[in-house]
Amino acid sequence: MNNTNNNPRFSFDLHLHGRRVLVTGGTKGIGAAVLETLHGLGARIVTTAREAPRNPVPGVHYVAADVATAEGCAMVTGEVHRLLAGVDIIINVVGGSNAPAGGFVKLDDDVWQSELNLNLMSAVRIDRALLPAMIEQGSGVIVHVTSIQHELPLPESTTAYAAAKAALSTYSKSLSKEVTPKGIRVVRVSPGWVETEAADPFLQRIAESSGTDYEGAKQIVMNGLGGIPVGRPAKPAEVADLIAFLVSPRATSITGTEYVIDGGTVPTA
Ligand SMILES: NC(=O)c1ccc[n+]([C@@H]2O[C@H](COP(=O)([O-])OP(=O)(O)OC[C@H]3O[C@@H](n4cnc5c(N)ncnc54)[C@H](OP(=O)(O)O)[C@@H]3O)[C@@H](O)[C@H]2O)c1
Repeated sequence: MNNTNNNPRFSFDLHLHGRRVLVTGGTKGIGAAVLETLHGLGARIVTTAREAPRNPVPGVHYVAADVATAEGCAMVTGEVHRLLAGVDIIINVVGGSNAPAGGFVKLDDDVWQSELNLNLMSAVRIDRALLPAMIEQGSGVIVHVTSIQHELPLPESTTAYAAAKAALSTYSKSLSKEVTPKGIRVVRVSPGWVETEAADPFLQRIAESSGTDYEGAKQIVMNGLGGIPVGRPAKPAEVADLIAFLVSPRATSITGTEYVIDGGTVPTA
């Protein structure tokens, strides 16, 4: 009789032990879940955010920097070289939006520039500084966290954010075509609504203004997205699990593609 338990193919080990990883935005939300997952799998991690983490993970190096600026990106990549002497995996999680609501007319040049700096240029600058070392070693994986909003923008408040994520997605595809033949995989992960702590104040405001409770507010947001067939937002750990698989040697044939994790939100055209 075959004992499959001894076959490494069935252990589903992701072989991430000792891998040198940069996770941007690793102190909250999706980034914190990615960091926790990869740390649990034995990766060596540098992370960055503007504010120090409330619950630092022992053994993870934290670099305080604003990666929406060229200087912040240079500081992070310099520290990655110093602390890890190179990098095997870059997970560009940082992103978000500070744009005011009110449609296109509220989006002046400064707002557009800051959405592009945070959601596009942070990844462009970090990749550009770290890729030469990856190319030299002939291996590496880069993940760009985009958003379903680049397919499904919400014009009241997310036009600039959605357009910046679309630019990130196109940049990622082009980069994959250029560097995959040199041994570097480049993949995108496109979340729908993920229930992070950052959503709490927003949901409380909706609950108060609509005379409902937290669950009622969630339903209002889901309705605004046209419904989520799975019936709930994703959890940060679910996005982290997908990313952990994609950066692992189990996914060696995966590059240049975008993985949507949205509970079915984006309808088929
Ligand atoms: N949550 C969702 O529903 C959702 C849906 C689709 C896509 N996404 C994308 O998923 C990614 C993570 O989203 P999230 O909701 O998990 O975000 P989050 O909870 O707001 O966390 C963002 C992380 O990035 C850091 N950060 C923000 N601005 C920064 C800056 N200028 N420089 C350095 N670090 C910065 C934050 O720390 P500091 O504030 O201390 O800097 C924090 O660690 C983003 O790219 C977002 O666009 C999220």
